[in-house]
Amino acid sequence: MYDFKPDAALPAADLYRELLGAAEALTAGEPDCVANMANVAALLWEFLPDLNWAGFYRVAPAKTGGADELVLGPFVGRPACIRIPFGIGVCGAAAQSRATQLVADVHAFPGHIACDAASQSELVVPVLRDGAVIAVIDLDSPSPARFTADDAAGIEALAAMLASRI
Ligand code: SME
Repeated sequence: MYDFKPDAALPAADLYRELLGAAEALTAGEPDCVANMANVAALLWEFLPDLNWAGFYRVAPAKTGGADELVLGPFVGRPACIRIPFGIGVCGAAAQSRATQLVADVHAFPGHIACDAASQSELVVPVLRDGAVIAVIDLDSPSPARFTADDAAGIEALAAMLASRI
């Protein structure tokens, strides 16, 4: 049994240090990327308060060939849209720009894709391997402006650690 005891009252830097350590331990030595993404999605859900969706989109071939797109990966939350082209929505913007998207109000984000009407704010961090985006980590919250620069830094550290494990 894995029994992590996140303390949401911790300062963000400490909470994210614990999250990173738990994710490192859970994925160490495991080559299956689906298993690793699934466990990390569960950790994100357990460690971070006030979320309504936490998980991954992977870069994968389009069904019809052509440019790669984002395809739904392991997550916790309500069923979500399956395929997102680069450049579309918050996830597509993160994939195309290879830069973190910290969105205080999703309704003000051009092209935002509403998978869950409850979502008010969103944080999407690209996972880069050798400079290329291989996935994004997506967090949604039902609260406006839920995510801060501390959250972005914490998830970016997680993404860097996962780059060779997913
Ligand atoms: N809101 C995202 C779509 C994915 S869901 O939030 C799970 C977007 O605009 O890309």
